[in-house]
Amino acid sequence: MRATQAVVHLENLRHNIRALKRLAGPDIRMCLAVKADAYGHGSVRVARAAAEEGVAAFGVATVEEGIELRRAGFEQPILLYSLTVPEEAGEVVEHGLQPFVADRESVERLNDEAERRGAEVRVHLKIDTGMGRVGCSPEEAADLGEHAASCGRLRLEGVCTHFAVADEQTDRGMVEYTSRQIELLRGCLEQMRGRGVDPRLVHAANSGALLGRPEAHFDMTRPGIMAYGYYPSNGQERTVELKPVMELRTQVVFLKTVPAGIGLSYGLTYETTRRTRIATLPVGYADGYRRSLSNRATVSICGKRYPVVGRVCMDQCMVDLGPDAPVRLYDTAVLFGPGDGDPDAEEIAGLTGSIPYEVTCLVGRRVPRVYTDEPAGR
Ligand SMILES: Cc1ncc(COP(=O)(O)O)c(C=O)c1O
Repeated sequence: MRATQAVVHLENLRHNIRALKRLAGPDIRMCLAVKADAYGHGSVRVARAAAEEGVAAFGVATVEEGIELRRAGFEQPILLYSLTVPEEAGEVVEHGLQPFVADRESVERLNDEAERRGAEVRVHLKIDTGMGRVGCSPEEAADLGEHAASCGRLRLEGVCTHFAVADEQTDRGMVEYTSRQIELLRGCLEQMRGRGVDPRLVHAANSGALLGRPEAHFDMTRPGIMAYGYYPSNGQERTVELKPVMELRTQVVFLKTVPAGIGLSYGLTYETTRRTRIATLPVGYADGYRRSLSNRATVSICGKRYPVVGRVCMDQCMVDLGPDAPVRLYDTAVLFGPGDGDPDAEEIAGLTGSIPYEVTCLVGRRVPRVYTDEPAGR
């Protein structure tokens, strides 16, 4: 087993999901985003634990991600959050995935494909109420919803939207923007219902709205990042205790003592100012520990922080321990995780102008995910 591992603390995931379920109350379903391999945590193991906590459905971005869950035996609804191309329609139908639809052409294509296979497809009409990414316009929604509901092989399972700034609760303009998005969705639903079209589920709430906008919970919430232990941004009051789920750790594989005036790593961007010990860690940007963390991040070894010095390389990086640190060969170094006093993914993100989502998603495929039920952290 490689020294560098992403330890996934499933008990922390369960804790976070329970907290999110309490926010929405017992009657509202939860569809957990497990796209991008569950934000880097491993979708099958995450989905298994989530299902045990009562998560009713899963959100993926690609057909392959959906098929992976089906092959692992999941029979729950799997919603396909991103739009697909025509060539994927067959697999969507074959594996019983529930695609978001936003135009007539894809509605008809899915209906034809289902007809050919003698199957039924459950679709979710995606309305763009202000995210500006995908979705039909609110003006088109009733027509498209009516059309989808009238297609013999389709079932209009859901009507949904996605928020652009639901996690920005401290800025009045942003709060009003989300309110407008909610109102637009409600208006579309009213029009549809006026025409006798009644979707089974209405859903909109990502983590930000699950936390701050109870009126947007509708029938089902769609959180992601908060289940993995992080807030979507700094724009909301942190009223729920979350526990980071992923811990990226490695071990010291080389130690040396060097005099003052020694340059380290590519570009010699760090020069020692005193006699000191340098530890080498077998983790680098190919593992998702980004080069922009060079001379910025700290790692935690035996509960103490030490600076990452010199450039982070593809597979290795260095840490300045100072002259007298009690660090030994093969000691564990935590790059980020839930432990008290350890850096977390939010801190790492802050150092590189990024967000925790990206930090966990980018942990490389070659880093083994190791699952534990041991609770960890604060
Ligand atoms: C359509 C959709 N719904 C829900 C989510 C979950 O968002 P978050 O991780 O911010 O809770 C995402 C994530 O990007 C998404 O694309």
